[in-house]
Amino acid sequence: MSNPFDYTGKVVFVSGGTSGINLEIAHAFARNGAKVSVISRSQEKVNAAVNELKSHGGEAIGFSTDVRDYAKTQETLKQTHEQLGLIDVLVSGAAGNFAAPAMGMSANGFKSVIDIDVMGTFHVLHSAFEYLRKPGACMINISAPQAYNPMEFQMHVCAAKAGVDMITRVAAMEWGAMGIRVNSISPGPIDDTEGMKRLASTKELRQLVIDSVPLGRYGTKQDIADACLWMASPMASYVTGIVLPVDGGWGLGGTSVSNAGMKKMLGF
Ligand code: COA
Ligand code: NAP
Repeated sequence: MSNPFDYTGKVVFVSGGTSGINLEIAHAFARNGAKVSVISRSQEKVNAAVNELKSHGGEAIGFSTDVRDYAKTQETLKQTHEQLGLIDVLVSGAAGNFAAPAMGMSANGFKSVIDIDVMGTFHVLHSAFEYLRKPGACMINISAPQAYNPMEFQMHVCAAKAGVDMITRVAAMEWGAMGIRVNSISPGPIDDTEGMKRLASTKELRQLVIDSVPLGRYGTKQDIADACLWMASPMASYVTGIVLPVDGGWGLGGTSVSNAGMKKMLGF
């Protein structure tokens, strides 16, 4: 049997693919033979990520783009298609987060996260459609437990990621007949990431989170990248429209335990 995780010659696009979890996802596909295109706002981060990705020996390109800008996002998908070919795997991972109670953020603060997560995912999906391999392409949206577990100081992120998961489900229904699968992956607390630096910035908060994860540890970026390799592979060929938690069981209820502790410690 051929290796289901051989991505040789496949084209993978990752929004927000220049750091953290999304960069690890890009690396995982590149290590397994894929040609990779990454985008984010910072040109420095784009340059560094592309250089790193090239070290796997394959093709890697990148663009400095804000996913809130439809025209620019559209241009990166067009360029990706021109330079690398039809897109096999589309990952929407660009996102924004900060911890603040609803009354501690402005309307623009709330909007900025909605715009990056929800509008950004729509812009990526809408711009990519004509360049997706049909049949066979797969879209993976990076969600979060906040999409289904309400979390204090995360009203903007809860609303945004719930929106992302609904985009997943509707796109899966609309695109299934064309042979395109669409799924979300919902990471739990992942070590060594900007996300967790923002949400659990002290030793005490970190321990509180660990204690509320049934598997008793933070996840690794590799845990999420591995799930993406599976999700995009023929091993998952009958899987579409789901939200797959890769969270050590955190979403089963532990989020509310760490939530209560965070509230106390952050002093809100
Ligand atoms: N608490 C309350 N409001 C905050 C905030 C905080 N910690 N951080 C930012 N905001 C508000 C700003 O005050 C601003 O509102 P205002 O114009 O009414 O003052 C609004 O959010 C936008 O901030 P700005 O810095 O201008 O926006 P940006 O588009 O440059 O950045 C963010 C977007 C705010 C999401 C920023 O945190 C970011 O770039 N995040 C990307 C990285 C990240 O979040 N990684 C974690 C994984 S998701
Ligand atoms: P990260 O390193 O900050 O990743 C976010 C990426 O998105 C960066 O590359 C950032 O680069 C880019 N980005 C942000 N705003 C953008 C915009 N407007 N346009 C284009 N790109 C933009 O954080 P992370 O913690 O690894 O998070 C990655 C993903 O996992 C996110 O979707 C997050 O919600 C999800 N997640 C993370 C955790 C966790 O434990 N960390 C848990 C659950 C879900 P630029 O700054 O260059 O734009």
